Amino acid sequence: MSVRRLDKVQPDSFKFSTANLKWAKAKVKQYPKGKQASAVIPILWKAQEQEGWTSEPAIRYVAEMLDMSYIRVLEVATFYTMFHLSPVGKVAHIQVCGTTPCQLRGSENLLKVCKERISEKPHTVTADGNFSWEEVECLGACTNAPMVQVVKDVYEDLTPQSLNKLIDDFEAGRTPRPGPQIERQFSAPQGGFTSLTDPALYDGSVLKGASKKAVLKKVTKKAAPKKAVAKPVAKKAATKVTTSTAGASGASLDDEDRPQALKAARSGGPDDLKLISGVGPKIEGILHGLGIFHFDQISTWKKNERDWVDGYLRFKGRIDRDQWIKQAKALAKKPK
Ligand code: FES
Repeated sequence: MSVRRLDKVQPDSFKFSTANLKWAKAKVKQYPKGKQASAVIPILWKAQEQEGWTSEPAIRYVAEMLDMSYIRVLEVATFYTMFHLSPVGKVAHIQVCGTTPCQLRGSENLLKVCKERISEKPHTVTADGNFSWEEVECLGACTNAPMVQVVKDVYEDLTPQSLNKLIDDFEAGRTPRPGPQIERQFSAPQGGFTSLTDPALYDGSVLKGASKKAVLKKVTKKAAPKKAVAKPVAKKAATKVTTSTAGASGASLDDEDRPQALKAARSGGPDDLKLISGVGPKIEGILHGLGIFHFDQISTWKKNERDWVDGYLRFKGRIDRDQWIKQAKALAKKPK
């Protein structure tokens, strides 16, 4: 871990703005009496949000506010790399994870991009004041290595090309979509699930009236790898799965609650339904099989239609929990 020291140039003082002071006082109240020190991280973070970095006077101010000794707040601020101890780029301070999993997956090439595009040395703000970078230790997204963090957002599964594109987007005033920068849903396996794919494992049907021993036997048998499952999920295969799950889910394709289907995507091709949080490549394939290709189709689903799709996908309310309609409405408005 690199040595983290306070910046040599410090402001004379720090003070919360009126709104932030109100926020901080309310935050402290959320903790039991005498335990106000537990609010140290959110309060320090708010101070950093206000100033852009964490200065020595800010650390003293927070210590006083929470009745903590200065050294304890200093320990927190210097331990966590989320606290910037020097001024950083106003548009983006790019924290590149350089720990082993990220390094094995190419973080050194990401560092090269930062050196070329931002500055040879870390913690150096560009002349326009907009960008800076540093190398940090593991940021907890190793599954999707290599990755970088920019303020609160993480960008994963990066390559030098995709990092260059991220920087282009920031430069152009756009906010890139956080998360994996490849076709992957969150930290799910690339290319879709390959095991425990039988929906019957999750709907309780195998438990009904069966002894523990019988259930275990059944589950083990069901979970055994099948040829078709082991193959990478191609688009056609995904549609095939849809047809076979239709009967198993109990939702009839002829039901009047089934949302209106299109025979094919409109000219211009289907929307990328995977932009909806909760839709991965497999679910997208199933939706296509149901004749759903566009955000505006989803955005108009009524409750009965949502319930039908939810039942069809065995989602148990996930469509409403993940707010598909709200997401689809927003995505439908965005230019392609
Ligand atoms: S090693 Fe990079 S996020 Fe964990």
